[in-house]
Amino acid sequence: MEIFKERIRKEGKALNEHVLKVDGFVNHQVDPELMEQIGEEFAKHFEEKNITKVVTIESSGIAPALMTARKLGKQLLILKKKTSKVLNEDLYQTPVISFTKGEEYNLTMSKKFIEEGDRVLIIDDFLANGEACSGAIRLLEEAKAEIAGVGILIEKSFQPGRERLEKQGIDVYSLARIKSLAEGKIEFLGE
Ligand code: G4P
Repeated sequence: MEIFKERIRKEGKALNEHVLKVDGFVNHQVDPELMEQIGEEFAKHFEEKNITKVVTIESSGIAPALMTARKLGKQLLILKKKTSKVLNEDLYQTPVISFTKGEEYNLTMSKKFIEEGDRVLIIDDFLANGEACSGAIRLLEEAKAEIAGVGILIEKSFQPGRERLEKQGIDVYSLARIKSLAEGKIEFLGE
């Protein structure tokens, strides 16, 4: 998605060779107009897939996932990283390790919001090692939902996330695929 890549070129910062900072428009301050365009792009790309539900993982995936769900006319389900006293009904849970942030959490989804046969589109901001997405897939498969696709804003193609998902037969669509962040330079795949 050219306008998104242009924005990354202009406002993104390669913090080091592994981490891209996009906090001015994606995950700290959020640009609603850009998120709407992203939602349109994902909805268009996956329109033939008979999506019944959009799923994301809190928190940075919520803005683009909500816009996508709105464009598809479907509900958005946000997977939680923390349980609470009010989230004590029947739950699906699976442990996820975040390498980038060096933390572990229990990804949690209430059973009542997903049905057998649901066709789910997973949306997230970054695809790095694919830990978060794989966790979401484990929960959804446990609920006997089908994974109709994964939509990612920024894929770090030098990390193994895409390969991991594709090995499971998952259709991954990324709006920006980063080849390298070496020496402070943001390089996209195919350029
Ligand atoms: P993985 O799920 O693909 O394996 O990724 P990993 O565990 O390595 O990263 C997990 C968290 O780190 C995610 O945030 C992800 O958005 C963030 N992240 C990964 N790579 C980058 C990067 O290059 N730049 C930035 N800014 N973030 C990155 P999270 O834990 O889900 O937190 P949240 O921000 O969604 O709340």
